[in-house]
Amino acid sequence: MIGERFAPLFPPDFVVVDAPPEPGLERLWPEERGAVEGAVVARQAEYATARWLCREAMRRLGVEARAVPSSSERMPCWPQGLVGSIAHTRGLCVAVLGRASRWAAVGIDVEPDEPVNETLHARLCRADEQPSVTLWGEEPAARGRAVRLLFCIKEAFYKCQYPCTRTFLGFQDARVAVHLDGRFELELLRDAGPWRAGRRLAGRWSRQEGYLAAGIALARSEEGSP
Ligand SMILES: CC(C)(COP(=O)(O)OP(=O)(O)OC[C@H]1O[C@@H](n2cnc3c(N)ncnc32)[C@H](O)[C@@H]1OP(=O)(O)O)[C@@H](O)C(=O)NCCC(=O)NCCS
Repeated sequence: MIGERFAPLFPPDFVVVDAPPEPGLERLWPEERGAVEGAVVARQAEYATARWLCREAMRRLGVEARAVPSSSERMPCWPQGLVGSIAHTRGLCVAVLGRASRWAAVGIDVEPDEPVNETLHARLCRADEQPSVTLWGEEPAARGRAVRLLFCIKEAFYKCQYPCTRTFLGFQDARVAVHLDGRFELELLRDAGPWRAGRRLAGRWSRQEGYLAAGIALARSEEGSP
């Protein structure tokens, strides 16, 4: 069963599809197989399900089905004319695809709606993100959940920025402000490829059915702004 539960995280011209991972290497195209041939069954299942979802998204966008192999840095190589992003988490694979004529890049991440252990908070969050860490209150479980959301937003941003900058960024390299109405803003705090420190992006998050999710899309018209 293909779901569309994360579609509200993106502008309406994106196709966003999700499904539980299922084994089936035969769903992969020859140029995709090398990435997971020696991998454990669970990894093969999530990789194959994501590619199957990508082709379903291509069908819904009205474009010909094509392969989505991985680069040496694990970045998906989107067919000409498309931008996309993939996420996997416990029991779920998600793919988002849009048209490259309108969109420069897109990123998605989905995480289990569970608190992050307190020992990791300082690594994943900045001191100046405290207002977002206490979004759902001061109790340890609420703070831990909010840190999971910040992590999710930063991973979605990472996937969106990487094809444009080809730069590894750490969790202290961006500052996130989360709003209870489902919006977030993110500020890049260091230069990354052609992007300058101070660049701001906005996106949407959701908390539903046991998952935290974040989506971010960069319009072609905004790509050149500093
Ligand atoms: C790349 C990364 C974000 C992937 O996250 P993950 O939790 O391992 O796995 P997810 O299931 O969420 O996403 C995996 C998908 O991400 C995509 N991905 C991996 N590397 C990528 C890259 N460099 N650029 C864009 N997408 C990438 C792939 O599609 C992958 O799925 P696939 O291998 O089946 O194609 C993570 O491994 C990582 O390196 N994080 C550290 C960097 C970071 O997030 N910094 C924060 C900056 S503010």
